Amino acid sequence: MARQNAVITGWGFYAPAKVMRNSDFEKLVDTNDQWIFERTGIRERRFAGPGESTSTMATSAARSALAKAKLKAADLDLIIVGTCSPDYLFPATACLVQSAIGADRSGAFDIEAACTSFVSALSVANAMIVAGTVRNALVIGAETLSRFLDMTDRSTCILFGDGAGAVVLEGSNASVGIESAVLRSDGSKGELLYVPAGGTMHPADQSTVDARQHFIKMAGNEVFRLAVKSMVDAAEEALSLANVALGDIALLIPHQANVRIMDAVAKRLHFPIEKVFVNVQRYGNTSAASIPIALCEAVEQGRLKRGDKVLLVAFGGGFTWGASVLEWYGEHDWDRATLSPLDIAARKLGDLVDRVRPL
Ligand code: ACO
Repeated sequence: MARQNAVITGWGFYAPAKVMRNSDFEKLVDTNDQWIFERTGIRERRFAGPGESTSTMATSAARSALAKAKLKAADLDLIIVGTCSPDYLFPATACLVQSAIGADRSGAFDIEAACTSFVSALSVANAMIVAGTVRNALVIGAETLSRFLDMTDRSTCILFGDGAGAVVLEGSNASVGIESAVLRSDGSKGELLYVPAGGTMHPADQSTVDARQHFIKMAGNEVFRLAVKSMVDAAEEALSLANVALGDIALLIPHQANVRIMDAVAKRLHFPIEKVFVNVQRYGNTSAASIPIALCEAVEQGRLKRGDKVLLVAFGGGFTWGASVLEWYGEHDWDRATLSPLDIAARKLGDLVDRVRPL
């Protein structure tokens, strides 16, 4: 089969119904709407309700993305969920989604790179499509960080929200697609943003629970400083790899952690702030879900049209960071039903060779 590019042909997101406004936190910790808004840009965020989890939200987002792509779950080759708040240690959240949507012939696994998980998952799915390993992939960023928040710690509990965003990536002969992906990390700074207990280093016991070690701990201002520098570096590298000038980027979709981080990144890149997509005021920091939710809202708001260059930039715990340049494709007009006869014949021949090869 000829080398194909990976294009996004479906997208969808889910935000839980329960809204937590800044004023709701005034009843829990010593804080106020003015401090939270001025320091973060956040007005409200969503928290998962009873019975909701990372997999249930991921499943809702996945169904919307598949419907938009007009792709049956049974025709999916791969599901990747990017998350640091899985339903269980195992099975993978992707397997729970696979079962819920009935993707009977799909592989499924999770990727954990904190807030960089979606960009990481997109990069892996893109590489597998370009290599011809899979024809398509459902890539999801989903988080329920509210379940890891210490509601007595005012420096973290006000920051995070829950939600899920999904995209369908498909191999295409179109000349557009994911044009570059840059992934970086620095594990030496892991303890600036982490959940200390509950893993194999400090398994859960009464003392870890009493010490509130199962909640997110963060050294906020150090994370802030490194986030800005790393996101700028990754953005510049992704642009250079894609051979795309910053001036050709129609929309920058950064990880939605803090409006001041996004402003600082735009300023350092000398990129116009009106071309930066921001929705942190309504969702807070949804970690791996933030970029796919923002992407969905950008499309809904008509801010992306076919051929537009988009720059995704993320930073998260680990530390991990990364960026990707892609050319927006959108709803496909190369409908499966309207592929050229030659293309269909090539695909059938490719499938036949694949089937005969192991004999
Ligand atoms: N309400 C009122 N006061 C507060 C609150 C609050 N909610 N939280 C902290 N403060 C106080 C602090 O106690 C401190 O008081 P002090 O001066 O008396 O000691 C003061 O406000 C300033 O605190 P800083 O931490 O210096 O505030 P800063 O301006 O750095 O803002 C924030 C804090 C919003 C957390 C910021 O540092 C930030 O956004 N950091 C980056 C977060 C991020 O990007 N995370 C990455 C991804 S997340 C992931 O991967 C899962």
